[in-house]
Amino acid sequence: MLEGDATVVQQGLETGWLGPVLRVKKGDRIKVTFKNELSQPTIIHWHGLSVPDVMDGHPHLAIEPGGVYEYDFTVINRAGTYWFHPHPHGLTGPQVYYGLAGLFIVSDEEEQALALPSGEFDVPLVLQDRLFDDQGQLMYMTDSMADGMNGFVGDTIFVNGQLASQPVTMKAGVYRLRLLNGSNSRIYKLAFSDGRPLVVIGSDGGLLEKPVTREYITLAPAERAELWLDLSADSQGDTLKLVSLPFEFPYEPMMASMHGLPALPQGAAFDVLNIAVGAEAETAGMVLPSALVPLAGYALADAVNAAEPRDFTIAMSGMIHTINGKVFEMEEVADFEKVKLGDLEVWQFINEDAGAEGGDNGMGMMMGSGMGGAMPHPMHLHGVQFQVVDRQVPLEARAFYDQLAGGFLDEGWKDTFLLMPGERAKVLVKFKDFKGMYLYHCHNLEHEDAGFMRNFRIE
Ligand code: C2O
Ligand code: CU
Ligand code: CU
Repeated sequence: MLEGDATVVQQGLETGWLGPVLRVKKGDRIKVTFKNELSQPTIIHWHGLSVPDVMDGHPHLAIEPGGVYEYDFTVINRAGTYWFHPHPHGLTGPQVYYGLAGLFIVSDEEEQALALPSGEFDVPLVLQDRLFDDQGQLMYMTDSMADGMNGFVGDTIFVNGQLASQPVTMKAGVYRLRLLNGSNSRIYKLAFSDGRPLVVIGSDGGLLEKPVTREYITLAPAERAELWLDLSADSQGDTLKLVSLPFEFPYEPMMASMHGLPALPQGAAFDVLNIAVGAEAETAGMVLPSALVPLAGYALADAVNAAEPRDFTIAMSGMIHTINGKVFEMEEVADFEKVKLGDLEVWQFINEDAGAEGGDNGMGMMMGSGMGGAMPHPMHLHGVQFQVVDRQVPLEARAFYDQLAGGFLDEGWKDTFLLMPGERAKVLVKFKDFKGMYLYHCHNLEHEDAGFMRNFRIE
């Protein structure tokens, strides 16, 4: 329920199952009365936004069926493609899967000065996969053990809640495409079918400093990418596909032999957009700006702990993922999770969830090979945008890394990044806005729901 500027709420994606697109400006005050008409607890989190912790949708704020939560915050983020989704503990995966997610698009003056394609040429694309039974009903967690370990994937790809296989007509002109991976666990390796490079202008936290080109981009759950797609030279009647390229995903062999692989496993190839080029558009021939918006980035040397990164080691304990040996506790903040307001820190994420080293995890032979190991994890921090400044990958983990790393968008502000198996990644993060308790977690929603999540507190 919203009041105020009627142009804020756009039902652009109304033909699918997704929530509305909210389009706001930096500085706007947002008031939302959120009513829980589900039969289970829920709460909304504004992914990527910096808001006071009571507005951030922490699971301890979840409201019961029939309950109401009043959101009231000011948008202080720079222009970018943010989103919102439920965050009740243990239920985020199913609630997002069954359709609860929407986009929160912020603009600001710097962005507007660039006069990028707008209106019908500014197109949000939410990518999701789903699985249906023969009655056409959504199915979720059909193999709870394998799905819990690997994350749930569907066999049918949807864009904005519509079948990806359906052709979409786009005019022969320039588009700004705002991609969100809204899937529970699927990773996309996006490329154009005719081999043209992708021109990337934005990432999770808005516009890059300047456009970059990639042969493909990697989009893990919750990550966003903005593309400049120029169809000016394409003629009416031409077709072009945005596809997801194949890659070899390291499913644990033991798991695969016991449970089989999903119908469209991680790393399978599929079409995402089936573009039919239409008539010439008024944006035809629009020129890509050579500079976008300054990032005002951080320098590693300025971090208060530049020489001693704060380490977060991800490992397996039995069937669950741990961070420094811990799993989610609603109110717990460990000493290593307390930071000071105003500090710039370097955080190092270490993925020791490597299949080959699964070793002795107390579950005997079945788990001995590190079942479900060697997983990549999309790591997400609430309340901040950070920079990925360093990635180290040991030789033996290189083969998988090299299949996806060419598509990372570490140039831009990030709130989620894909931490690959065996990788040690450093991020620079400044806790600049609010004191309070926030979350960091894996955005593979089945991992998150299983407790691969922790609090941190800004003091
Ligand atoms: Cu997109 Cu903690 O969430
Ligand atoms: Cu978030
Ligand atoms: Cu994970």
